[in-house]
Amino acid sequence: MNKEVVLSGIRPTGFLHLGNYFGAMRNYVRMQEEYDCYFFVADWHSLTTHPDTKELKASVSRVLAENIACGLDPEKVALYIQSDVPEIAELYLYLNTLAYKGELEKVPTFKDKVRLSPDNVNAGLLTYPVLMASDILVHRATKVPVGKDQEQHLEMARNFAERFNHRYGEVFPMPYAFSYGATLAKVLSLDGNGKMSKSENAMGTIYLNDPDEEIVKKIKKAKTDAGPTEPNSAKPDYIENLFTLMRFVSKEDVVAKFEADFNNCTIRYGDMKKQLAEDMAAFIAPIRTRAYEIQNDESYLDRITKAGAEKARESASATLKLVRKAMHMNH
Ligand code: TRP
Repeated sequence: MNKEVVLSGIRPTGFLHLGNYFGAMRNYVRMQEEYDCYFFVADWHSLTTHPDTKELKASVSRVLAENIACGLDPEKVALYIQSDVPEIAELYLYLNTLAYKGELEKVPTFKDKVRLSPDNVNAGLLTYPVLMASDILVHRATKVPVGKDQEQHLEMARNFAERFNHRYGEVFPMPYAFSYGATLAKVLSLDGNGKMSKSENAMGTIYLNDPDEEIVKKIKKAKTDAGPTEPNSAKPDYIENLFTLMRFVSKEDVVAKFEADFNNCTIRYGDMKKQLAEDMAAFIAPIRTRAYEIQNDESYLDRITKAGAEKARESASATLKLVRKAMHMNH
């Protein structure tokens, strides 16, 4: 029996951080053992918001390197660059005729982007969800590991798929959001304001390429308070977040000690942050070093992206064959 197809895309804008690692990448690494996985760098998508492409190649290499350093194995998954797979663009063209201006204008992420850059409301931005649907449907993927913020895009992908199937004949299975449930971690910003972010709030976010000193500095500055005054209090979310991070990187007995200190109101957040900073730096250092090595190994990156594109194109062209046949364009 064929394995189910898992697919996800990563935009090469901003820097990968702990939230991406514990929320997404760790899951990808697990999925690669069980599913037929396609992971790609969405360079076409980045054009909709980042028209200046001078840094693009370097960013694409960095994102690839960081994902591999975190455990994605290019031998097990198809790891590729979106622009290496022209079949996606062809499908995007077809799906654009099934997507309506009105529904695209209503998408919250589109409205946000219009608000943020009113001078660059380009058609690519409007049809961002159509390109994303093409990424997914081109491999007839059914499982898409994405965060909450992408749910609406996925719903649109299902709508486009359904319209296509209805109009031209059954080609696409329905894609749904996918995660390993309980293991999906939400990592808050260290200053207690929202989530860690790829492009904003650098002091509250720990990036996978932060040097040790930077990690220590950020954790030292993390938001805390005077500590609990009642035994066994509920933790404020910014404190819970420090415990969450600690559970990821520190030894169990260390976490247990600080839990106990919290529960009997003797916790010293300075000590806890010192320990967390040390363990976090030790956790990130090997990833950072490995990512740096890979990023600078151009011939390795060339080799794996070529192989990735080949795998992706094999699957994509099989889908396009069905699409063209269904559309009576198999001349
Ligand atoms: N839109 C996604 C994001 O902003 C990136 C993305 C592009 C994607 N194409 C995709 C995610 C296909 C999942 C499937 O994070």
